Amino acid sequence: MEIKLLSGALGAEVAGINLKDTSDKNFKIINNLLLEHKVIFFRDQNINEEEHVALAKKFGPLETHAYVKGLDNYPEIVRIIKAEDEQNQWGENWHSDVSYNFKPTKAVILKSIKIPPVGGDTCFSNMELAWETLDKNIKEKIKDKKAIHSSLGAEFFLENYKKMERNINKNSNEFSNEHPVVRTHPETGNKILFVNWTYTKQIIGLEKKESDEILKKIFDHQARLELTCRFTWSENTVCIWDNRSVIHFAIADFYPGRGLGYERVMDRIAIEGDSPS
Ligand code: SIN
Repeated sequence: MEIKLLSGALGAEVAGINLKDTSDKNFKIINNLLLEHKVIFFRDQNINEEEHVALAKKFGPLETHAYVKGLDNYPEIVRIIKAEDEQNQWGENWHSDVSYNFKPTKAVILKSIKIPPVGGDTCFSNMELAWETLDKNIKEKIKDKKAIHSSLGAEFFLENYKKMERNINKNSNEFSNEHPVVRTHPETGNKILFVNWTYTKQIIGLEKKESDEILKKIFDHQARLELTCRFTWSENTVCIWDNRSVIHFAIADFYPGRGLGYERVMDRIAIEGDSPS
């Protein structure tokens, strides 16, 4: 096995592992890599939908997405499609997937199907490091607080993607839940700064104005480049991220004459998490 670190903060590209092998032994190696690096990438993994599902099931029960319909034969797989003429990119700002759910996603396994010749990288930021390095006055103020996470506005996803379908089994109401601002990782015991620009609306127990000011400072801190890594995709790459301890940002740098004009397709499976504590 060969491991190439993507930055000093998080992320590793791993070679020499076969993701078709879902034995307990191989899973343990993969999960340990995930806990250590928080986001891991495996290039040239020609797994089919069934193998993708089998790998994901090793991590736990699978989610169906609140808003988006999965594939007909594999409802757990959401096919994220940016059409040739679309400029938006699914997940194009900092977020932790579905943090508005009572049990936000534990981990996501994303497989690249079609990648434009330029553009469409994804960035990740390490929320354990973000907590460690946060201003100590802010830490003191928020350490025992909870925040409201809401899906309000999340439906813009679907309006921007003409090749994706709404999940008709679910209503399109807002999902909203309160979570601790600092959560403890259930497997490592590490502290994690668990708020994000897309879904966290207010810190409970602070006036709205103060909450907005503190959240703005936290969001700026989370986006500091020294907490991040950036990955340039190639087709048939499998990425696994620990959605509890990272936020991510899919870059929508599709401009006329550059990435615009090309399709980008990713298959996404999410694994159920627990209620943050
Ligand atoms: C996501 O934000 O869930 C998808 C990331 C990507 O497509 O790169």
